[in-house]
Amino acid sequence: MMKERALPVIDVCDLTREYANGAGSCTVLCGVSLTVRPGEMVAIMGPSGSGKSTLLSILGLLLAPTRGSYRMNGEDLLRLARSGQSSFRRHAVGFVFQKCNLVESATVYENLEFPLIYAGVRRKERPGRIREALARVNLLHRVDYLASLLSGGEQQRAAIARALVNHPGVVLADEPTGQLDRHNGQLVMEHFVRLAAEGETAVIIVTHDPEVAAFCHRTCVLEDGVLTETVRCP
Ligand SMILES: Nc1ncnc2c1ncn2[C@@H]1O[C@H](COP(=O)(O)OP(=O)(O)OP(=O)(O)O)[C@@H](O)[C@H]1O
Ligand SMILES: [Mg+2]
Repeated sequence: MMKERALPVIDVCDLTREYANGAGSCTVLCGVSLTVRPGEMVAIMGPSGSGKSTLLSILGLLLAPTRGSYRMNGEDLLRLARSGQSSFRRHAVGFVFQKCNLVESATVYENLEFPLIYAGVRRKERPGRIREALARVNLLHRVDYLASLLSGGEQQRAAIARALVNHPGVVLADEPTGQLDRHNGQLVMEHFVRLAAEGETAVIIVTHDPEVAAFCHRTCVLEDGVLTETVRCP
């Protein structure tokens, strides 16, 4: 069960992000605030180019906001030194990129082993963790494949397994089902639901698909730099 009163795992306030372009600068996020508690699943929707990936990159500490604050479990992340931010990213966050970003010349096993190595997980614990994560996305039979030989949907599932292998408190997924057939898309979403319910993991999913959003507790829409929560009919 989701803990209604638990402290937020993510608490961002008034985030602004400007990008420099040839002509000057454009403001993509304009005072975005969002609070997410442990075990909550939040869908972020909105038109192409509205800044969804930008927002997710900031939440994953891959990109700095121009202004605003970001607390994770009460820790003021933007005040941490770069090494402190990296540590949060390695231990607390699992990121599923819009483009899968697998190392194509490495096997599926090796792709999942990299984050475990960075997080300091001992060698003998790694095979079990990797097999467990692959089983969750129905991809155990491809464990020794080179990533470059996987189909688009298999690459996406490998990328999801890679994000889960560290048992992060926060999963940030950028269109995680965009390349999956309906069956595998549902499996992945059911898995996120279980993960959120049992492990109290907060899951934030960027999606264009209302069926994916329907798996989430809340839906927010990003448009013209502003994030608005939609109110669901009971
Ligand atoms: N590094 C950058 N420099 C300049 N502009 C950028 C940069 N990255 C993104 N943008 C611009 O910011 C806007 C938002 O991009 P973003 O990738 O966050 O959109 P998105 O909502 O994820 O879109 P999509 O649904 O197509 O994935 C776009 O107009 C894009 O051109
Ligand atoms: Mg995007």
